[in-house]
Amino acid sequence: MSEFPKKPDRPELYRFKLQLTVGRGGTGTVYRALDPETGETVALKLFRANFFRNKLHLRDLQKSAKKFKKLSHPNLVKIHELISGDEGEVLVQEFVDGPDLQWYLSKRPWNLHELLVIIVQICNGLGYLHDQGLMHHDLKPGNVLFTRKGQAKLCDFSLGGTGLLTELFDAGRAEQITPMYVAPEVIQKKRATKLSDMYSLGAMMYLMFTRRLPFEVDSLPKLYHCHLHDKPLHPTIAHDKCPHYLGDVIMRLLEKDPKKRFQDCDLLRISLSDIGRQRI
Ligand SMILES: Nc1ncnc2c1ncn2[C@@H]1O[C@H](COP(=O)(O)OP(=O)(O)O)[C@@H](O)[C@H]1O
Ligand SMILES: [Mg+2]
Repeated sequence: MSEFPKKPDRPELYRFKLQLTVGRGGTGTVYRALDPETGETVALKLFRANFFRNKLHLRDLQKSAKKFKKLSHPNLVKIHELISGDEGEVLVQEFVDGPDLQWYLSKRPWNLHELLVIIVQICNGLGYLHDQGLMHHDLKPGNVLFTRKGQAKLCDFSLGGTGLLTELFDAGRAEQITPMYVAPEVIQKKRATKLSDMYSLGAMMYLMFTRRLPFEVDSLPKLYHCHLHDKPLHPTIAHDKCPHYLGDVIMRLLEKDPKKRFQDCDLLRISLSDIGRQRI
């Protein structure tokens, strides 16, 4: 059993009244809180003190937060503001009241229709982000949240940095990306593009439709070696219920060469709707 949610370790953070500690992850602690100014329930992400690699990274995120505030899509967690001050850096976001995709995959039986509905929503949210010139950079089941009505929402996008300066002068960002889902070109510290997100999406789809990761090895160097050089087992062999055509779609997302992957979420969604027509 998870130790969360639990009573918060303090009553307040900035102007917010803390209600619950929802969880603690690689980036920091997430609270459910009340905003007394609006009466709204929000999620506060209090970043770990060492989350910011340097001043450049922090400044980049402060700048991006202005862009994030303007984003509005049903499949993206709404970002309200980033507060910096003596209580730390806090990202104020929409509170999503259901479980995340990691929970869903561990609890729900394999169901093609349900999984396709989820992946199409993820595609829509990610496609919108890409259309705005942003990338996610850390797609993984823990960053897909559900509302109680089952609507999927991506969170934690672009927290590693979005600016060109960060890319040019800060090599540390690659280390902040979850290694199971990271694209080969990111491991090689080449420029991450939206096609790197497409690879991570492929790795996440592999897990969703086969219940296994593309590469199950026991060390980070081996994992990086696999992302760079190995072909995963075809999803249809990894899970006998995964339709062959869908397995091919996933394999195309996991191509080492970004040019061979689906070039955007719209093309991927069109291919997914073909699966729907064939199977449902
Ligand atoms: N906006 C949100 N609304 C509700 N719960 C959230 C929100 N953002 C994150 N959480 C939950 O908080 C917990 C910790 O998340 P997080 O710090 O993002 O972990 P990680 O760094 O591993 O991605 C997770 O259980 C996640 O589902
Ligand atoms: Mg997260």
